[in-house]
Amino acid sequence: MVKYNCLNPIAPIGLNLFTEKYEKIESLESADAVLVRSASMLDLNLPENLKAIARAGAGVNNIPLDKCAEKGIVVFNTPGANANGVKELVIAGLMLASRDIVGGINWVQSIREDENVAKLVEKGKSKFAGKEILGKKFGVIGLGAIGVLVANAAKRLGMEVYGCDPYISVEHAWNLSRDIISVKTKEDIYKECDYITVHVPLLDDTKKMINKDTIAMMKDGVVILNFARDLLVNDEDMEEALKSGKVAKYVTDFPNAKTAGMEGVIAIPHLGASTEESEDNCAVMAVKEIKDYMEYGIIKNS
Ligand code: MLT
Repeated sequence: MVKYNCLNPIAPIGLNLFTEKYEKIESLESADAVLVRSASMLDLNLPENLKAIARAGAGVNNIPLDKCAEKGIVVFNTPGANANGVKELVIAGLMLASRDIVGGINWVQSIREDENVAKLVEKGKSKFAGKEILGKKFGVIGLGAIGVLVANAAKRLGMEVYGCDPYISVEHAWNLSRDIISVKTKEDIYKECDYITVHVPLLDDTKKMINKDTIAMMKDGVVILNFARDLLVNDEDMEEALKSGKVAKYVTDFPNAKTAGMEGVIAIPHLGASTEESEDNCAVMAVKEIKDYMEYGIIKNS
């Protein structure tokens, strides 16, 4: 019997794929396999018999990879399984940064009981005027599963899309996205784009990549979107850039104490992959990975 533990809720459509050879247990201690979403495993004692961890999501920065490598524990992730969910939220973020929909909704709420509410609408029209994204330059840093989908969607919305990926060759990026984007260097994207979105994993050389030096290269009034990892952005530097107006809008699903309430910040909880579809896709892929490994020794996406 293979014992598995779920450190986060995992969608039933995935768990139902486990056969009678598997038993779900409530504690980590005697688990052979673990399924986890974004709960941190960094400080946990890994049980002796643990053989596999499946991260139902893309990022593995919540898993102690070095410790797992030492102990021979295979770590899987589910690349692409939640990419569409994240893409849709990034596009919503792009819209929210351009049109003050949230300001407009809040304002209508505040005047909704006024008997002149209909007349006041004229005032709201100018108060919340926005910008259009058509023809604006949109830079996508990171052309993995999510970055390519985001680039494609922005292109379809009429944006001029530039992309780069520090971890794949320009030729590869070009093949991936030939009709979608112009491939640029990261520096060119910083300098030329009106909107910049990051879709890279958190690694030593991506940590705090959006900082005072890179922001200084950007256009005044740039809009930055971060739905990838919180530590990609230096929060102190972002705070300064928002105060000075260098960054007009910072849209993120990683609220933090420094910037969350500031003017120009649109922050929501980490919701990118929180859709029924993405949760189902991740659960199915993660469970299949565990089964393939435990039953046949097959290793995919590790
Ligand atoms: C991911 O790495 O896939 C995202 O953080 C989504 C999530 O697990 O919530």
